[in-house]
Amino acid sequence: MKRDGFSSRFGILAAAAGSAIGLGNIWRFPYITGENGGAAFILVYLVCIFLIGIPVMLSELVIGRNAQSNAISSFDKIKPNSPWKFTGVLGVLTAFIILSFYSTIAGWVFAYIGRAVTGQLSSISPAELPQYFGNIINAGGSNLEPILWQFVVMVITGFIVIAGIKKGVEKYSKLLMPILLGLLVVLAIRSLTLEGAYKGVEFLFKPDFSSLSVEGVLEALGHAFFSLSLGMCTILTYGSYVNKKERLPSLALQITFADTAIALLAGIVIFPAVFAYGLSPDSGPDLIFITLPTVFYSMPFGSFFQMLFLVLIGIASITSTISLLEVPVSYFTEEFKLSRKKVTILITSIIFLLGIPSTLSFGSLGDVTIFGKTFFDLMDFTASNILLPVGGLLISLFIGWGWGIRNAVKEATNDGNIEFKLASAYGFATKYLAPIGIFVILLYSTGVI
Ligand code: PFF
Repeated sequence: MKRDGFSSRFGILAAAAGSAIGLGNIWRFPYITGENGGAAFILVYLVCIFLIGIPVMLSELVIGRNAQSNAISSFDKIKPNSPWKFTGVLGVLTAFIILSFYSTIAGWVFAYIGRAVTGQLSSISPAELPQYFGNIINAGGSNLEPILWQFVVMVITGFIVIAGIKKGVEKYSKLLMPILLGLLVVLAIRSLTLEGAYKGVEFLFKPDFSSLSVEGVLEALGHAFFSLSLGMCTILTYGSYVNKKERLPSLALQITFADTAIALLAGIVIFPAVFAYGLSPDSGPDLIFITLPTVFYSMPFGSFFQMLFLVLIGIASITSTISLLEVPVSYFTEEFKLSRKKVTILITSIIFLLGIPSTLSFGSLGDVTIFGKTFFDLMDFTASNILLPVGGLLISLFIGWGWGIRNAVKEATNDGNIEFKLASAYGFATKYLAPIGIFVILLYSTGVI
């Protein structure tokens, strides 16, 4: 059977950028930046993106396109019967975990969309918002709404994944990413012109390193992976659908640039508003759900823009959930010769069930902690700050030491047919910089050394 694939350069870019751009940029980046003190954290984040993210991004594309296979078999094809395929196993496992809690937050977005459409959301005053939002997400007992929305998110994701790459993934991403960007720019202007906005700008751009902890550095690294969809073979899987003529180095740069620009833009929307309205930057996962409606409240045609924006975030989150689901679906479909539909339904159901405790963490399971973390926080921490960096470490080691830089560069340059000026920097990064950097950060911040 011929494998499905992307039909155009813009389609690949939109799908991969669609995977990268999501709740990580608009929800997670602002809230962890707020918790970690602002500019200094952002600086470390940018260093991680630049020195580790870009090389790992290219590595995933190169492996995927060379092997033209799924997360696990790709390693097996390139290095048969070697332990490297464990990297893919880890990726499949991580997909289950991330999607399980990601769908909690995507569900909140959909819950808000419902209220924006009926006009309810715009009638809530900023002072009432924390309570209002708190009631929505307080899952358990008689409030099953967040679980219902989580279910909706999983069903939509499953449907698109069943449709396959060209018809499903590519079509939806292409259209919507550019609109999201435009709207963020409008919002950034609104936020920057609020009275007292400068404090937010300072928070974002004036580093104070005393506010950054060792754990903050791990968070920055973990978030670099999370935001770029790296370390769990998602980009590798998308890379496997890319044709042999595409220029992978520039593709890697473009995805990274788009993702980082959107995250920074989201920060510029959120923080000036947080300070202008006297909200607290470190309020945690609910930050954007309180801040954004406050900004819209102060805007002409605010309720219309609010609805549009929420719909776009909803879509941005779906282009990410489909990429997460694609990792296990492509593996189980190809390896066990099962129908894509059956596999998708089964995996979607398992992930939905796994996600329920995360959703309940903001309600009836709020007091239950494991290692001092709620179930939601534990899933997020384990996947984002441990499994993704470990995955990235293994991918760099595979390129640098397992498969070899020469082979990787051969694939990256389409067998020497295109120029790749930074090939030796790429080699150095995958051989030494990324593995050592990730390893040291992991050991330090988990208290091993
Ligand atoms: N990069 C996505 C975001 O920032 O929302 C989340 C994500 C998607 C993480 C795919 C990991 C992944 F493999």
